[in-house]
Amino acid sequence: MIIILLGPPGSGKGTQANFIQKRLNIPHLSTGDILRKAIKDRTELGITVEKIMANGELVSDEVILNVIRDRVIQDDCKSGFILDGYPRNIKQAKSLNIVLEEINKEINKIILLDVNFDSLKSRISSRNKENTAETRADDTSEVLIKRVEEYKNQTAPLENYYKNNKNFNKINGMESISDVSLNIENFLDIAN
Ligand code: AP5
Ligand code: MG
Repeated sequence: MIIILLGPPGSGKGTQANFIQKRLNIPHLSTGDILRKAIKDRTELGITVEKIMANGELVSDEVILNVIRDRVIQDDCKSGFILDGYPRNIKQAKSLNIVLEEINKEINKIILLDVNFDSLKSRISSRNKENTAETRADDTSEVLIKRVEEYKNQTAPLENYYKNNKNFNKINGMESISDVSLNIENFLDIAN
């Protein structure tokens, strides 16, 4: 099972991917988490992306493609995975198709978490309060504006790209976390 989670910053991609991961026992691949770990570990990748991420801009497609290619060939991805934060533009969506062809897999479900842009600021600031141990450099209100702008310009066009795919569904991300989760489970056909 290969599931793509799309949605603006703070829409709940990470939150919902965690639930799906537990439910289906497939890994949650968050490109943002992978890059943040690289920054923390001071790897070459981390040093390359640190400033770009702190500014709320997208990292280059080539860098991200290498990250994804390396990750999906690992053993734990054999039965599938959840993509959170990738693809993030049309070019990445096309590269993903090529990567999946290479490993003989295809996308099973594409979920767009639909949220009101006005709610994102309060969600991001409450995430910081919930989890002060891992305050993100890009969670300031100024950088959030840039992240939302990048989303609107680069990522939002993916809705058009995927909307005619029979496996695409837009789910209302403004409901409670548990209701969103239930709607996702229904769409994935894994509700109890
Ligand atoms: P990334 O880490 O992907 O961040 P993001 O897209 O900005 O999204 P967030 O992680 O902030 O939000 P989320 O949707 O996961 O929401 P969450 O569940 O945490 O990317 C960061 C950066 O990395 C990018 O800016 C870029 O630089 C780089 N990058 C990553 N991937 C890339 C790529 N493919 N190409 C190029 N660059 C890339 O929820 C947020 C808060 O809301 C939490 O407090 C949560 O408890 C709360 N919440 C969740 N759901 C609900 C709900 N239904 N009701 C109320 N509160 C809710
Ligand atoms: Mg996230």
